[in-house]
Amino acid sequence: MNTHASGELCEWIIKNSTDGISVFDLEGNFVLINKALERIYGWEESELIGKKISILDSNEFENAKQALQQGEKDMQYETVIKRKDGEFYIAHTFFAVRSPEGKFTAVACISKDISDRKAMEEKAMKSYQDLLNTIRYQQGMTFKYKKINERYIHTLADGELLYRLGLTPEQVVGKDLFDFLPHEIASSKMNYCERAWNGEENLIYEGALNNVTYLASLKPIKDHNGSVVEVIASCIDISRRKQAEELLLQSEKLSVIGQLAAGVAHEIRNPLTALKGFSQLLKQKYNESHDFFNIMLSELDRINYIVNDFMILAKPQAVHFQWHDINNIIRSVIPIINTQAILNNLEIITEYDEETALIRCDENQLKQVIINLLKNAIEATPNGGTIQVTCKKQGKHILVQIIDQGPGIPPELIKKLGEPFYTTKPNGTGLGLMISYNIIEKHRGKLFFESRMNTGTIASIQLPL
Ligand SMILES: Nc1ncnc2c1ncn2[C@@H]1O[C@H](COP(=O)(O)OP(=O)(O)OP(=O)(O)O)[C@@H](O)[C@H]1O
Ligand SMILES: [Mg+2]
Repeated sequence: MNTHASGELCEWIIKNSTDGISVFDLEGNFVLINKALERIYGWEESELIGKKISILDSNEFENAKQALQQGEKDMQYETVIKRKDGEFYIAHTFFAVRSPEGKFTAVACISKDISDRKAMEEKAMKSYQDLLNTIRYQQGMTFKYKKINERYIHTLADGELLYRLGLTPEQVVGKDLFDFLPHEIASSKMNYCERAWNGEENLIYEGALNNVTYLASLKPIKDHNGSVVEVIASCIDISRRKQAEELLLQSEKLSVIGQLAAGVAHEIRNPLTALKGFSQLLKQKYNESHDFFNIMLSELDRINYIVNDFMILAKPQAVHFQWHDINNIIRSVIPIINTQAILNNLEIITEYDEETALIRCDENQLKQVIINLLKNAIEATPNGGTIQVTCKKQGKHILVQIIDQGPGIPPELIKKLGEPFYTTKPNGTGLGLMISYNIIEKHRGKLFFESRMNTGTIASIQLPL
């Protein structure tokens, strides 16, 4: 092709190109523009030629020129132009125009309208943000990880559950398990990480952290060759389900205890009837020891009551709710337990804030609770001291507190109190508190413990007035 023909071809290409083409002299004045550029900028050729029109950021031109002078092949910029009909994204690519001798004579520029691409990118970005928000605000948790340098590095972690576990995405993303979990817990998860990374599908495990139990389900993500490139996990909080399961287990235990209780109570009641009968006979025979017999008989009645109460566990029984003065209930219990206290060199000090404090309750059941709590307090202080029993009004409640100077209960064991058969005593049955919780609950009250190691324990009963 001769020079003339190639010149014509060049002109034809410039004229018909769908990309904007322009040439600037070294001062930045337009010397040539094509139709496509007119369309892109919305300016006429006559308005542009020979002028420095500020449709280009002046720095952009100067920077490009400098870089091209220094030998860069081309320079690319993306810019936004404002036209009457809206904003457009344009990508400029600058080239050096050189004379046959190699002298830098002008700057050529190809301008492409990339608004569509930008719109797509923005849409994709928005969908990505939406996805991240969905992951962030889900009740559960999603995480992903991949193997990098023999370590399983998290590439994503978010969701409400993550925060409930006491973690944040910043603590997890870019890290392996050992970076944010206690060593023991991290090691226990490694096996699952490995198995999922090796392609095992639908791997499920249970984890717990900060009193939250969760169920994680792992799934490997594979590329078109079937190689695992990442593992995705979704987790749900199953703490409530766990608690329900435990309650169920506890209530199953309780029903077994109930059956046992019924049997034991039955066996105790028969000899009691005999004892009571003979005590009555003796009372008639030895009139002078009248008081002793009265005490014996009333105590036998109490045993009978307690045995009956024990049977509450076996089947619900009618409880006799009546108005009673809680101060009197406490007063009547102290003599019963005092012998044991004296043996342990203990003094029981009582403090009643109110003259009378009437509550609706089953008297014998409340006596049983106070005896159980006092017995625990005495057993906790074998080397003497004092046990304080206080009774005061607190808003719409009565608060009875039994305060001992025993060794205290470690915080992690407080939640075990009331579990059937939980005992630390060689001869304990571990039923005392369970029965007490049961009774207080029936009175719509609350039983709770505060304890300081080597200082003592406060057992509090809160009852509605
Ligand atoms: N005041 C206290 N100080 C220290 N530990 C206590 C106290 N009260 C309860 N505990 C702990 O709670 C456990 C359970 O008490 P609970 O009364 O239910 O059973 P127990 O006293 O062991 O047996 P029992 O069935 O004979 O009452 C006790 O074994 C003891 O470890
Ligand atoms: Mg006890």
